[in-house]
Amino acid sequence: MDTKVFQLDEIEQAAALLKQGELVSFPTETVYGLGANAQNEAAVKKVYLAKGRPSDNPLIVHVSSIEEVNAYVEEIPEAAQTLMEKFWPGPLTLIFKLKPGAFADTVTAGLDSVAIRMPDNQATLALIKAAGMPLVGPSANTSGKPSPTTAQHVYHDLQGKIAGILDGGETGVGLESTVLDTTNPEAPVILRPGALTKEALEAVIGTVYVDRHLVSEEEKPKAPGMKYKHYAPDEPVIIVDGSSESWQAAIAHYQDQGEKIGLLVNETRARQFKGQVAEVFSLGKEGSVAEAAKALYAGLRFFEKTDVTLILAEAYQRDGIGDAYMNRLEKAAGHHYFND
Ligand code: TXA
Ligand code: MG
Repeated sequence: MDTKVFQLDEIEQAAALLKQGELVSFPTETVYGLGANAQNEAAVKKVYLAKGRPSDNPLIVHVSSIEEVNAYVEEIPEAAQTLMEKFWPGPLTLIFKLKPGAFADTVTAGLDSVAIRMPDNQATLALIKAAGMPLVGPSANTSGKPSPTTAQHVYHDLQGKIAGILDGGETGVGLESTVLDTTNPEAPVILRPGALTKEALEAVIGTVYVDRHLVSEEEKPKAPGMKYKHYAPDEPVIIVDGSSESWQAAIAHYQDQGEKIGLLVNETRARQFKGQVAEVFSLGKEGSVAEAAKALYAGLRFFEKTDVTLILAEAYQRDGIGDAYMNRLEKAAGHHYFND
């Protein structure tokens, strides 16, 4: 199959493919999604196949209005209604009790709940409207790999396996949406951290809990997708959290073992160590975790095109989007830190 790349003035053509049950990747404010008709079983099955995604990992349904959610869920808790009005369109996925039959069975992988979000991207909202159906939208990467933040990343992973890609340029946030379970109205729980932080949610609806798995390694995560090895490039990733001296020690340690090192670091450190290692990729201004979040997946993908054998990656403060950045980086690194 030829994968057609559509420009932003070709939304009708992209929508026509979706109506035929084909897969079309779309841009969002977080990462690119892999779109298919959420009410067409055959189309949704193709999504799992194209990504190589385990069938017990449910998909997020992408909608173009708040009103339509009523048709898909058993109830909308008050907190969820407030959050939709405040933060949609935006990087917030809400889990609701599923109205049986609202979507193709495989969308929810047998769960009685469903994840829904309204992405903050004009072209994609227009695409959903033009298609006239809610779209599933897992990140448009091969399962286990870093999520795509450009149309080129999607093309690299899925060319020949999907009908089209709507090219909306580089995504803004760079990390996937915050997933919040609202099925227990007494205790909303964050299942996956994202750009919308616990504090931002609490300012609107009061106390929000965090899935224990995100805090402790031992617990089984409630978002099925969080248990898989994820966001990982081909080379091992090791996190370095410390001063120039720790970086110097880490570089020396792994070079002694014969590793060809790639550094995924802020621009100050990139300049400092450029001559000493095989490759460097800058995550942006020192201390700017928003820039780092936006660049992380492109950085992890960059090293796949090089001959480095090991990636040393920069830790950031866990505030703001830093929490999501560290969550994804720790998964990419299998929680492996350098200890000097
Ligand atoms: O930003 C995003 O959310 C992107 C863009 C494309 O919208 N999409 C995305 O989808 O990240 P995906 O499929 O890569 O991640 C969906 C996550 C998985 O961890 C999945 O297990 C969880 O949401 N999830 C989906 N339905 C769920 C449910 N009913 N209960 C709990 N977790 C659910
Ligand atoms: Mg994903």
